[in-house]
Amino acid sequence: MSNTIVVGAQWGDEGKGKIVDYLTENTDVVVRAAGGNNAGHTVINGGQKYILHLIPSGILWEGKTCVIGNGVVMDPLGLLEEMAKLRAQGVKITSENLLISETCHLVMPYHKGLDKAREAKRGAKKIGTTGRGIGPAYADKVERGGLRAVLLTQPEILESELRERIIMHNETLRAAGVDEVPLEETVVEILAAAAVLAPHITNTAVYCHEAIKAGKSLLFEGAQGTYLDIDHGTYPFVTSSNTTSGGACTGSGVPPRMIDKVVAVGKAYTTRVGSGPFVTENEDIGDMLHNMGREYGATTGRARRCGWLDAVLVRYAVMINGADELAITNLDGLDGLDTVQICTAYKLRGKIIHYPPSTVADLEACEPIYETHQGWKMDLSQIKNFADLPDLAKAYLKRVEELTGARISLLGIGPSREQTLVA
Ligand code: GDP
Ligand code: IMO
Ligand code: MG
Repeated sequence: MSNTIVVGAQWGDEGKGKIVDYLTENTDVVVRAAGGNNAGHTVINGGQKYILHLIPSGILWEGKTCVIGNGVVMDPLGLLEEMAKLRAQGVKITSENLLISETCHLVMPYHKGLDKAREAKRGAKKIGTTGRGIGPAYADKVERGGLRAVLLTQPEILESELRERIIMHNETLRAAGVDEVPLEETVVEILAAAAVLAPHITNTAVYCHEAIKAGKSLLFEGAQGTYLDIDHGTYPFVTSSNTTSGGACTGSGVPPRMIDKVVAVGKAYTTRVGSGPFVTENEDIGDMLHNMGREYGATTGRARRCGWLDAVLVRYAVMINGADELAITNLDGLDGLDTVQICTAYKLRGKIIHYPPSTVADLEACEPIYETHQGWKMDLSQIKNFADLPDLAKAYLKRVEELTGARISLLGIGPSREQTLVA
């Protein structure tokens, strides 16, 4: 029995889905504890590509239980769509293998409208959200005006609470010049979704504790990444939840003392979707990766911004998350390069710093200090054992360990399940 948290060490899309899928073989329960369907986790296995948004990627394994924890904001209509897509791909989803916390908050159609309205109002300062209503749903939760999943099992209360909220939020949408949510149609749609989802709703904190007592292992599937964390990220260009390891505990009801390990997932380079500072951003790396057909968002299809590996960010992420191990993905993305750079520190107004500063203004003023490594110039994607990697790739990874203070335990050299090497 061992409970492990998997988090993203950068700005999301590090390959958490793939790493969680790999680790699920030796776990019993996979838990999502934060975020919503802003997440897009890609798993490629048996020639099929699966994209998961709200459902933990453990669902792709038979005999595992998946939990959507209390820290998640759950869009019932989005969830039904995701369930339908996965079922069409042959994935079994039942009220036995997918449990939803009764206290997770619901994302409603008006949250999406509000998300759109707020982004439009921000103009040039827009965050570049996924448009999934995540910020407004968490705002309602914190403001204590949200609707929780337990209401999906209480249709009469749900209906009256929902009507009240739609009328109230429509006033804001109207004032912002954004389409209002059709009252009757939305009520019918949400009540229909409630009837389908009700059997999945339960006290998932109790479920997790009973599973632990029975000797089962839990795996917490992080969503987003450390620098999208509402507290530790590049605020305000962040998401609205705690995406770091502490969020796995508050978002599930499993306390810190029951966590055995934290694995931080990071790409061998850096990407970001949406606006905000990005010290090592590099257009040439972006062009190279986009020309290879890589680095397009799994949720919105947007081209991701790309740059060199920023060890300053990963070092701080290792610290904030208490990561014991690093899983480095997409090493194969650097295969063709003559030289590979790593940012080891920043220069901020003449001073060398080794941790990221807290404000956007300071981050934007930082210059990266690079160290250049010779490229391995070889296709890594078919390698079967870590020991068989070329020495230059091993040297690059060793340097990443030195710079970040965490041991690399897993390595991704391609998108599919078997392209994962144990270090
Ligand atoms: P997540 O949100 O952290 O789960 O990551 P995404 O699925 O959004 O983005 C990661 C992308 O990299 C996806 O397209 C994955 O299929 C792909 N990927 C993950 N690991 C590797 C790897 O080691 N090599 C390659 N080539 N692709 C990978
Ligand atoms: P996964 O789990 C990458 C980004 C958005 C935007 C900011 C706020 O796949 O790693 P939001 O819709 O959450 O209010 O948007 O956060 N963002 C992600 N970027 N991967 C994600 O999830 C993301 N989820 C949100 O692009 O910049
Ligand atoms: Mg993603």
